[in-house]
Amino acid sequence: MAQSPSSITKKLEGKVAIITGGASGIGEATARLFANHGAKVVIADIQDEKGQNVAESIGSSNTCSYIHCDVSDEEQVKKLVASTIQIYGQLDIMFSNAGVFSKSHQLILEFEFTELERILATNVRGTAACVKHAAKAMVERGVKGSIVCTASFAATTGGEGWTDYYMSKHAILGLMRCASKQLGQHGIRVNTVSPFLVATPLACNYFQKDAEELEKIHQPHTSLKGSVLKVHHVADAALFLASDDSAFITGHNLIVDGGSAV
Ligand SMILES: NC(=O)c1ccc[n+]([C@@H]2O[C@H](COP(=O)([O-])OP(=O)(O)OC[C@H]3O[C@@H](n4cnc5c(N)ncnc54)[C@H](O)[C@@H]3O)[C@@H](O)[C@H]2O)c1
Repeated sequence: MAQSPSSITKKLEGKVAIITGGASGIGEATARLFANHGAKVVIADIQDEKGQNVAESIGSSNTCSYIHCDVSDEEQVKKLVASTIQIYGQLDIMFSNAGVFSKSHQLILEFEFTELERILATNVRGTAACVKHAAKAMVERGVKGSIVCTASFAATTGGEGWTDYYMSKHAILGLMRCASKQLGQHGIRVNTVSPFLVATPLACNYFQKDAEELEKIHQPHTSLKGSVLKVHHVADAALFLASDDSAFITGHNLIVDGGSAV
């Protein structure tokens, strides 16, 4: 288990953060890390039992809560932000991380548009709703907050398949860049974190592999040898972007890929 940082090294003391998709994978690891760094954390997800369990394992309702929120529904996102402010009095950080992957290979010659709509609803509309409502709350309260969205290595390359997913992640970069330009005048920063393949339920379920097998797929592509991408590496990047360590960084896509794209 990770050691809790001392009060001097706690990077999010006094901050309130929402983490969408916080019941599992990258979101769960980030919720734990943010809480270790002193943040009050709201986990938002559609997996209620998992989300509740993660929240309870992090701390009491004074420090961590679970709220059901389907990010594809703007009203639910609006309520999530309002409830967070009602419970913890403010909102400093939005980690818009909830996402879904393709159900099939989605080659362009066999492209299924209902599937595209499903992916866009969560990955693009959901992320845009989170950015919008977090930013509105921050602007109204004069909070110079940090908004971090999870994009992907798929946001900056083309894919051999999974066209719908790659499209959705490219759109998140466009959203982040527009929002960072528009919100800079309010002191609100907007950035993305872009992981390479990580062994989470999303990836393991699609590829029907366990974590160890999945990690072997991407090892040959990374420049960094002797190390494997884990959820905590992505959480560390999200912490950097959420905290004052990145106080003058906005409009940036932080790729966490061990040098795969070089
Ligand atoms: N795992 C990877 O290889 C990888 C690589 C690059 C980017 N990503 C991105 O990282 C993010 C987190 O994925 P993960 O790998 O941790 O997967 P995961 O499946 O472990 O976690 C995703 C979480 O999002 C939640 N979610 C899905 N749809 C939702 C909705 N409509 N509303 C609210 N919550 C919803 C799920 O219930 C789940 O708890 C996603 O945006 C994904 O696209 C993952």
